[in-house]
Amino acid sequence: MENNNENILQVQNMHVYFYHDHGVLKAVSGVNFEVDKQKTLGIVGESGCGKSVTAHSLLRIMLPRSKMEQGKIYLNPPGQKEPLKLHQMHPKSKNIRRVRGNLISMIFQEPMTSLSPVHTIENQIKEAITLHREKDKKEAQKIALEMLKKVGISDPEQRLTEYPHQLSGGMRQRAMTAMALSCNPYILIADEPTTALDVTVQAQILDLMADLQKSLAMSIIYITHDMGVIAEVADEVCVMYLGKVVEYTDVDTLFYNAQHPYTQSLLNAIPRMDYEGRLEAIKGRVPEPVDLPEVCHFYPRCDQSIEGKCNQEEPPVFQTEEGHRVKCFLYEGGSGPDG
Ligand SMILES: Nc1ncnc2c1ncn2[C@@H]1O[C@H](COP(=O)(O)OP(=O)(O)O)[C@@H](O)[C@H]1O
Ligand SMILES: [Mg+2]
Repeated sequence: MENNNENILQVQNMHVYFYHDHGVLKAVSGVNFEVDKQKTLGIVGESGCGKSVTAHSLLRIMLPRSKMEQGKIYLNPPGQKEPLKLHQMHPKSKNIRRVRGNLISMIFQEPMTSLSPVHTIENQIKEAITLHREKDKKEAQKIALEMLKKVGISDPEQRLTEYPHQLSGGMRQRAMTAMALSCNPYILIADEPTTALDVTVQAQILDLMADLQKSLAMSIIYITHDMGVIAEVADEVCVMYLGKVVEYTDVDTLFYNAQHPYTQSLLNAIPRMDYEGRLEAIKGRVPEPVDLPEVCHFYPRCDQSIEGKCNQEEPPVFQTEEGHRVKCFLYEGGSGPDG
């Protein structure tokens, strides 16, 4: 495969399953996407749709009882002729450890899952730096301070000496972001990083991400259940439902021409400032993807479904316009729902 200069990451037909006593749970089944250089790919879907399992799998972090059954993950670091084949790297190998935190970093919804409660912020950032970059302690300390300034932490010299529990939720999220970015990764994976924060702090963190993306020239994979956040951060968007990508397009197209009924329902559920009525929630719940038949999995919740079709076969992916892919029978033959 050629080292394509436009995208930094390509994921092809990724399947990740959990093996439970009550059956095989297909958390991710056949996911495809690309991440462009210095752009943000948003991944959106309700809770349980496979977003976090997708994120972990990119770094070959295999959760207990799970296995990546199929798929290819190509990373194209600039200046390198051949892409790195992450799917071939053993989850405990030296090669993938060199990728984690170094070429690709990840931040999580709850900073306490990746910050240690018993070490100061300074020691944690310094350790992240010396682990991945050949820097001595003094240099590492300088970078740690710079990073805290970059992520907008007030009184950074003082903060360096503090422990995570001494910081507010927003400050902890910033400290974790500083740690994740301290090695200048090509890609930052942010898995619902603002969900636990109030809206004002969330808005500040989103602004911060946009600034950092520009100054560090990195790509971001931003995971959220919130279409409002997608509108703020994403260039391209992957909409996931039950382990599959159901719609994939650029963010403008998604907002003016959402085609999958699931995407349309997510958009109808966004709160609007000028709207005082009841929000339209999507009817029904996300089921567990265990022993599901090979049909459209959104069928039971869809108000546009075609009886005898959507509950009989799995819809293929249709390209409805350039760069716009939809996994839905309404678009069979390129006609769209009205024609
Ligand atoms: N550690 C785990 N063990 C077993 N099943 C899991 C685990 N993590 C996630 N799953 C299952 O995988 C599916 C996808 O989960 P996840 O990727 O966490 O969803 P999301 O991040 O979109 O909310 C869900 O059905 C969830 O129950
Ligand atoms: Mg998640």
